[in-house]
Amino acid sequence: MCGIIGYIGSREALPIVLEGLRNLEYRGYDSAGIAIGDGRTIRIRKRAGKVAQLAADLEHEHLPGTLGIGHTRWATHGEPTDINAHPHTDRAGRIVLIHNGIIENYAVLKTQLEREGYTFRSETDTEVLAVFIGMLYDRLGDFELAVRTALQEVEGTFGLAILSSDDPDCLIAARRGSPIVLGIGDGEYIVASDASAIVAHTRRVVYLRDDEMAILRRDGYVTKTISDEFISPEIHELDFELEQIQRGNFPHFMLKEIFEQPATFRDSIRGRLLVEQGNAKLGGLTPVADKLRAARRIILTGCGTSWHSALVGEYIIEQLARIPVEVEYASELRYRNPVIYPDDIVIGISQSGETIDTLAALREAKLKGATILGIVNVVGSTIARETDAGVYLHAGPEIGVASTKAFTSQLAVLALLGLYLGRQRDLSPSEGRHLAKELSAIPDRIARILDNAAAIERIALEYADSTNALYLGRGVNYPVALEGALKLKEISYVHAEGYPAAEMKHGPIALIDRNMPVVFIATRDDIYDKIVSNIQEVKARRGRIIAIATEGDERIAELADHVISVPATHPLLTPILTTIPLQLLAYYIAVARGCDVDKPRNLAKSVTVE
Ligand code: G6P
Repeated sequence: MCGIIGYIGSREALPIVLEGLRNLEYRGYDSAGIAIGDGRTIRIRKRAGKVAQLAADLEHEHLPGTLGIGHTRWATHGEPTDINAHPHTDRAGRIVLIHNGIIENYAVLKTQLEREGYTFRSETDTEVLAVFIGMLYDRLGDFELAVRTALQEVEGTFGLAILSSDDPDCLIAARRGSPIVLGIGDGEYIVASDASAIVAHTRRVVYLRDDEMAILRRDGYVTKTISDEFISPEIHELDFELEQIQRGNFPHFMLKEIFEQPATFRDSIRGRLLVEQGNAKLGGLTPVADKLRAARRIILTGCGTSWHSALVGEYIIEQLARIPVEVEYASELRYRNPVIYPDDIVIGISQSGETIDTLAALREAKLKGATILGIVNVVGSTIARETDAGVYLHAGPEIGVASTKAFTSQLAVLALLGLYLGRQRDLSPSEGRHLAKELSAIPDRIARILDNAAAIERIALEYADSTNALYLGRGVNYPVALEGALKLKEISYVHAEGYPAAEMKHGPIALIDRNMPVVFIATRDDIYDKIVSNIQEVKARRGRIIAIATEGDERIAELADHVISVPATHPLLTPILTTIPLQLLAYYIAVARGCDVDKPRNLAKSVTVE
């Protein structure tokens, strides 16, 4: 959710903090604020709106100081107004903090503090924490002790960066549930909610774990638990380059990431696909190889786009390995008291590795004795660290809020996993080889679809004014229909529904008239004839049909108003190809409607609150 950046060192903090905020803005962008300490006072500037607006306000102002924090917000408690923007302070203005997460017992704390005469300016849970720390500081006279004491009382989640004007050589960071990474520089430290704000300064990082804090001073730092036990920090090297979080010549990150897919898909299968053996090698799963061999059931869980890839994974793994697979929204799984057996394998799929519901669902499964695995993109993220084993996507940083390249890389990993599990069971070497060959050909086939982007843009322009859209697919392409509809609504605010095509007759068909665009995913496979019948049913009711079909399909060309062709591939791999035109369609429609594609309203890239 919110982006957090903090700096302590010898350089001017303001430009570093603002640059960090620009890199973190995809985490939340309804308001932004900074605080800069010059050794005597801490000056705060904050406002509703995007980082660019804050930066413009600051253009003519000189805020000197080598200590600073900055925040870009995704509102939970209180509307995105200037007053609710972070940083927040205690009443004396000495304690200054920024926060990601939710203080769940803020109402109780607030009532207690009000009884003691404290007042509040904002509607946020964060201000309550700032005032609470301030109150404890008055009593205890020690900044670090006040923070620690407060955090032991607090319920809920937090990623925090905190300053005190009485202690100008100190920045405290703390985490529970919301990620905090420390960048270890040369005589300087950068604190951030993710490494994209750190990589420009240093590659050496420490990931805080839950209920840990870091006390950073210019001449050194310590990490400890919030109950005051010292921890020796584990330093990691970042695995990506600065250019990867820059937009280059593309107008939007989303378009850049769509076009990166031939390369990112290749990176996801690199060194893992054993074409000659018709098998896959997933080094990250070695510690659980025996458990996987003995698995009687797999549960795939995730949220948003990652949940859609789980749905595709169900088709792939069940067909290749004949292991029963269940898919469940992480937010449901975590609270449902699910029946989980010790020989279950529960796999959390998450681009960020930080989605709170996915993490909580995995923790629940772990508690019940299952083996928990992660299919995660962000190296060192919480899910990656908490799971028993896992597979990284290697798709590189994904900045566009609407997930694209992470989705196709998730499908790559699920196909590799299906192949690996299948070959341990009934999948023959020749079937395995066929699938492996088809997988290795996918990057070139994605590139071929991307070559056709201009034609897809022309179709998009025809439908840019539509107010509704229906996406229909069957079998392994049913989740692609869901994903296509999600992409459209996320970034263009057009109402879109995805459905299994046969279900159309049980409701959505009532919506169809000459103004309703219906996107069919209709590649050649063993249910091809069924979907052709569904297309005919829509045509009979004068719906406008956009079909994603296999190259050379004359039959569909005759029926549909528009056809977007994708190369033929193994039926189980078609979602990787059919999803590409749907990403482009959504992108071009959103651009034509004047939407902010990379920062769609109300959304955030990484959802670390419930
Ligand atoms: C947010 C993002 C989506 C993403 C979902 C799950 O809603 O906007 O693009 O699919 O979270 O995120 P994860 O990082 O767990 O894949």
